[in-house]
Amino acid sequence: MSITEQNISAALATLIDPNTGKDFVTTRGVKNIKIDGNNISLDLELGYPAKSQFARIGQMVRDALKANLGNAGIDEVSVNVFSKVVPHAVQRGIKLIPGVKNIIAIASGKGGVGKSTTAVNLALALVAEGATVGLLDADIYGPSQPQMLGLSGRPETVDGKSLEPMSAHGLQAMSIGFLVDQETPMVWRGPMVTQALQQLLNDTRWKNLDYLIVDMPPGTGDIQLTLAQQVPVTGAVIVTTPQDIALLDARKGLKMFEKVGVPILGIVENMSVHICSNCGHAEEIFGSGGGAKMALDYAVELLGQLPLDMAIRQQVDGGCPTVVADPDGRVAEIYKSIARRVAVKLAEQAKDHSAKFPAIKIQNT
Ligand SMILES: Nc1ncnc2c1ncn2[C@@H]1O[C@H](COP(=O)(O)OP(=O)(O)OP(=O)(O)O)[C@@H](O)[C@H]1O
Ligand SMILES: [Mg+2]
Ligand SMILES: [Zn+2]
Repeated sequence: MSITEQNISAALATLIDPNTGKDFVTTRGVKNIKIDGNNISLDLELGYPAKSQFARIGQMVRDALKANLGNAGIDEVSVNVFSKVVPHAVQRGIKLIPGVKNIIAIASGKGGVGKSTTAVNLALALVAEGATVGLLDADIYGPSQPQMLGLSGRPETVDGKSLEPMSAHGLQAMSIGFLVDQETPMVWRGPMVTQALQQLLNDTRWKNLDYLIVDMPPGTGDIQLTLAQQVPVTGAVIVTTPQDIALLDARKGLKMFEKVGVPILGIVENMSVHICSNCGHAEEIFGSGGGAKMALDYAVELLGQLPLDMAIRQQVDGGCPTVVADPDGRVAEIYKSIARRVAVKLAEQAKDHSAKFPAIKIQNT
């Protein structure tokens, strides 16, 4: 067999990306194949961030080419692996926000299930994989991200109108908690709340975000409706605990997004198993299998399960979430695997071409 572009493509068409379950030719990731004598070089573009896996994926490709084209006498194979995240489709008729490619809402029906904890850890896991990420705290009544990110002070403004995002652990962040005094309770009425959310979202100068993670408040009220109907959301992740009541509420959250055509990327089951901080033994306090059952009932994916673990609470409440506090630990690995899965599922959604193709022009020829 000789070294030709066709042979190289054919060899790569049999190589399955473990993240997508598809081969790299089908995903159109293989680009710029160059053959120079017995040396091959190519680019491999991934549609999701995976910095931690570039080396391993590159090695996989080199091994596959050497195995498949071995008797053609290959000397060198150089593979340049990189990620490129593009905007994906949102609800019909809603325009994307400047500086933001994809918005992912982290929601639940019930309060206190761990949305904010999940949101900040997933955002940081995407940062760890090389993505440019923002975190918007959409909880106007009870913002938690300033504390979870260990941030205080106020955002800067250059023009007196827009806000510069705050920055922590490599994330761009915005929260009403940066703008109002958290000691003085605010009295918000419905329209003010949705207006505040719109302003936080639209008046922040987000800088080239691959993903904006939106930490939703509990419930299915005004903010949720605004987000579902007026904000360009690419996908939603539903957080639930294993208890039945929480599951019932989670179903409400899920239905709301379905109704407005926002795809559910999957479910995260939080606090699923209690890990004893004394001896490390695991106990299913809230029963087991709730998230899995819900995933099955609604034909959505169970993205992962987080234990009820005191360290998760201590780290996030102390301003240094688990993914940065203990980046190589078991819990961080769960968050990272969920984040990769979310990014891969999102990459499978239809692309948004509005930025690429301006208005259609009709010409006389
Ligand atoms: N897996 C976990 N293990 C231990 N503690 C957790 C876990 N997940 C969240 N917590 C803790 O539970 C509390 C509630 O979590 P969090 O604030 O993330 O919930 P929420 O769904 O955002 O709540 P709200 O509905 O009020 O916005 C926090 O103190 C958090 O540290
Ligand atoms: Mg919260
Ligand atoms: Zn114990």
